[in-house]
Amino acid sequence: MTVESVRPEAQPREASELREPPLAGGGVPLLGHGWKLVRDPLAFMAALRDHGDVVRLKLGPKTVYAVTTPELTGAMALSTDFKIDGPLWESLEGLLGKEGVATANGPRHRRQRRTIQPAFRLDAIPAYGPIMEEEAHALTERWKPGETVDCTSESFRIAVRIAARCLLRGEYMDERAERLCNALATVFRGMYRRMVVPLGPLYKLPLPPNREFNRALADLHLLVDEIVAERRASGQRPDDLLTALLEAKDENGDPIGEQEIHDQVVAIVTPGSETVASTIMWLLHVLAEHPEHADKVCAEVESVTGGRPVAFADVRSLRHTNNVVVEAMRLRPAVWILTRRAVTDTSLGGYRIPAGADIVYSPYAIQRDGKSYVHNLEFDPDRWLPERVKDVPKYAMSPFSVGNRKCPSDHFSMAQLTLITAALATKYRFEQVPGSNDVTRVGITLRPHKLLLRPVPRD
Ligand code: HEM
Repeated sequence: MTVESVRPEAQPREASELREPPLAGGGVPLLGHGWKLVRDPLAFMAALRDHGDVVRLKLGPKTVYAVTTPELTGAMALSTDFKIDGPLWESLEGLLGKEGVATANGPRHRRQRRTIQPAFRLDAIPAYGPIMEEEAHALTERWKPGETVDCTSESFRIAVRIAARCLLRGEYMDERAERLCNALATVFRGMYRRMVVPLGPLYKLPLPPNREFNRALADLHLLVDEIVAERRASGQRPDDLLTALLEAKDENGDPIGEQEIHDQVVAIVTPGSETVASTIMWLLHVLAEHPEHADKVCAEVESVTGGRPVAFADVRSLRHTNNVVVEAMRLRPAVWILTRRAVTDTSLGGYRIPAGADIVYSPYAIQRDGKSYVHNLEFDPDRWLPERVKDVPKYAMSPFSVGNRKCPSDHFSMAQLTLITAALATKYRFEQVPGSNDVTRVGITLRPHKLLLRPVPRD
């Protein structure tokens, strides 16, 4: 999972040599492939490579292109012929704001990346170590042996707290973190529904679920306003992401507007919390379902720490724990679907892609593909050992994406995920309890429906 610097082949060929991508099989009149995508999106996306490297899908009257191979998804992510756009981003923009880094394109996006990047650089991460440590251990203390842990709310809670305390440095974060968790959970659920079932005006009716969604969305925006206003009122300028955003200048050297500051905070806190929380849920699931790996993580941590509480500085020595995190992210990538839009007539793998085309691809499908991985569906953290990792094709494992839209938070996320996994596995074994439902719930991210675990102390 390194930043890829080489631009792979996506080179335009002579227009006359280009072929139209084949139409994927299985479409039905009127709805095309839409019904399959709604009914079982993961299986649908995972099967597309059998139809071609690039295929056309019919979603109602609309044609959408799907890219199915690691090389071509890497090529697309690194090519300037494609930008962030399409239904996923449009629905995110409509709800979260149009001026944040996650949805901007062109010069504004480059400028915004320059503003936020220093907070996420590898050399900035150790400063967050004490907070990550404190939060990871506080989590294990909160959980009482034998009591049932609701992994959804607990994972959200720690993800929001770490992002907010590290990047926005608030004293007030406990109450706010709870509000943020509640608001985000409702907003993300509603956003996904609005994306896959676009019933437009129906979502404006004053029905209870719509009212709940609107309240949560309003609270999310209010929270962000409160955080910004409080920082301003404090007169303090700690060296953090919020200060960087408040002091950012636009292309003309003028201070950026209030709306952009607001949208930037939303664009960073929102995807950051949802993705990390979903990944923590899957890591808890791994610890419960693969006790042999949980034991191995525990043994590794103890061999590094000699029995003291695991610290941030230990993370770089925790090879196996890190591999467990990577393998969990391979099989259960939080970000399972991404879209792009072609900005010009272009090509991918010898196929013609017209300007304006919407393109979709699935890290879930790519990372589970039997053409890229032996025993592809097996949970095998050792596939990330140095001697085996070279068997993994380029771009077949890019949970943070590559290119100019690559997640800025890869180091930040990996550090906290490894530390949390280490802290949890050394204190407890986990078992699912009756009522737990670990079936994958497909939303904006992938997570278990309702994972309920009982922590059993290790002696
Ligand atoms: C973008 C994954 C955690 C902030 C992305 C993208 C992916 C991703 C795949 C690229 C989207 C694309 O190519 O279209 C993940 C995963 C995470 C994680 C798997 C954790 C397990 C975070 C965190 C933050 C964050 C903790 C912030 C605190 C962002 C932002 C972008 C982004 C701001 C937009 C970047 C841009 O468009 O330039 N993330 N992310 N992510 N992520 Fe993350």
